[in-house]
Amino acid sequence: MMKDLETVLYTEEQILARIRNMGEQLTAEYRGKFPLLVGVLKGAVMFMSDLVKRMTIPLEIDFIAISSYGTSTRSSGVVRILKDLDRDVDGRHVLIVEDIVDTGLTLAYLRDVLVRRNAASVRIAALFDKPGRRQVPIEPDYCGFTVPNAFIVGYGLDYAERYRNLPDVGILKENVYRGSDTPRT
Ligand code: IMP
Ligand code: MG
Repeated sequence: MMKDLETVLYTEEQILARIRNMGEQLTAEYRGKFPLLVGVLKGAVMFMSDLVKRMTIPLEIDFIAISSYGTSTRSSGVVRILKDLDRDVDGRHVLIVEDIVDTGLTLAYLRDVLVRRNAASVRIAALFDKPGRRQVPIEPDYCGFTVPNAFIVGYGLDYAERYRNLPDVGILKENVYRGSDTPRT
């Protein structure tokens, strides 16, 4: 799998060190608030599991699975909930845990859904941010790393469901997806 990477951007050690900092910051910000952390499946699974271990306050976790209606309608921001939350968010301080913010359409939709369900607060923690590709004005409140406009894989991030189990994060070689569209998940 490593041979399919153009370059390694962040090693597992660097990622874990950054998540440790984020966990300390989030511990301070959410103390006494019993936050509900909402992980977006499947990309955020590893980030979620490492992040909550670095938060030393009572909290709950839940997961949601979302899918866009394909590339042609993607720009409309229409997305579909494939697996909804188990927990009621009414009155809860919700922290969305996402792997990467790209166009921002998924998160804009998800944030609206949670606000409409009467969450007390909704904030976003994203491990990676690709601000150069944004189509809607949305910024993560907590961000691990800002990355260039390239397709990255590893540490939960996939191309066609592969590479999620790479411990490091890197830019995927173009020849891996040459012939198909720009990779999207
Ligand atoms: P957005 O709605 O365009 O912000 O899409 C966010 C989703 O697209 C993320 O949750 C990822 O699943 C996927 N995505 C965006 N950029 C990348 C990337 O570089 N590598 C892998 N997945 C990506
Ligand atoms: Mg994805």
